[in-house]
Amino acid sequence: MTEQATPTQRLTGRIALVTGAQQGIGRASAVALARAGASVIVNHLGNGAAARQVIDEIQALGGEAIAVDADVSTREDCERLVAAGDELGGVDLLVNNAGIFPRTPFLDLNDDDWDRVLDTNLKATFRCSQIVARRLAADGRPGAIVNLASIAAFRPSPRGAHYAASKAGIVGFTHTAAAELGPLGVRINCVAPGLVDTAQPRYGMTEADIAAASALVPLGQMATPDDIADVIVFLLSDEARHVTGQTLHVNGGQYTV
Ligand SMILES: NC(=O)c1ccc[n+]([C@@H]2O[C@H](COP(=O)([O-])OP(=O)(O)OC[C@H]3O[C@@H](n4cnc5c(N)ncnc54)[C@H](O)[C@@H]3O)[C@@H](O)[C@H]2O)c1
Repeated sequence: MTEQATPTQRLTGRIALVTGAQQGIGRASAVALARAGASVIVNHLGNGAAARQVIDEIQALGGEAIAVDADVSTREDCERLVAAGDELGGVDLLVNNAGIFPRTPFLDLNDDDWDRVLDTNLKATFRCSQIVARRLAADGRPGAIVNLASIAAFRPSPRGAHYAASKAGIVGFTHTAAAELGPLGVRINCVAPGLVDTAQPRYGMTEADIAAASALVPLGQMATPDDIADVIVFLLSDEARHVTGQTLHVNGGQYTV
């Protein structure tokens, strides 16, 4: 720990953008980053009321946050989203969290299903990372990025060929981006959650399916959004200053490397 930074203030002065922050892991990350001292851009997808609740929670902690409605599956919105961070001082921390998992059997997948998942999960991660990194490079500022991968990148995921491809793509993208961004002082890593208690698993699993899957987790339960958010904060903090290009598995022991 440095003299200036306490464990609760280690991101003071940093400007963090969290995509898909209106709920779930994104929401927990936005709040955890604010608790660590960062000012936060809360991206949402047409749900100002949910984003307002996140902002209120951050402000109640004494933090600073703004909400930005943007669809990260388009470059135009990604550019506008990152630029909105200039109001707070310019984004130097990025969490590429927005994601979708519309479960579909492989034989039923069509090109539109495939493109929607790849555009939202993988292409948005590339775009937002590139936009933030270009700005940091132009200004000669350091920064850090965390991408949400998934256990699905490493082992089969029922009715999730498109999703698994997007998440495996994020892991591969991160390896090479880390090698190119390292010399610029920009770190980029992945967090790969297992099952997390959010809306996402409920788009294709029953509560009974979720309970059965949770029972198989060696640590005895699925993750909470906070379990993932705390690791994201660590990877964005200076405590992870020599960590880049890595995938940190946060799955209660469901999958080990
Ligand atoms: N919940 C899990 O079990 C689990 C496991 C592994 C990885 N993940 C990943 O974690 C991330 C967060 O998921 P979650 O579990 O909180 O799910 P969630 O469905 O609760 O949240 C996803 C968020 O992404 C946003 N989003 C979707 N498309 C968007 C777009 N085009 N533009 C902007 N925002 C968009 C949604 O509005 C929502 O706020 C995702 O990348 C997901 O794939 C989740």
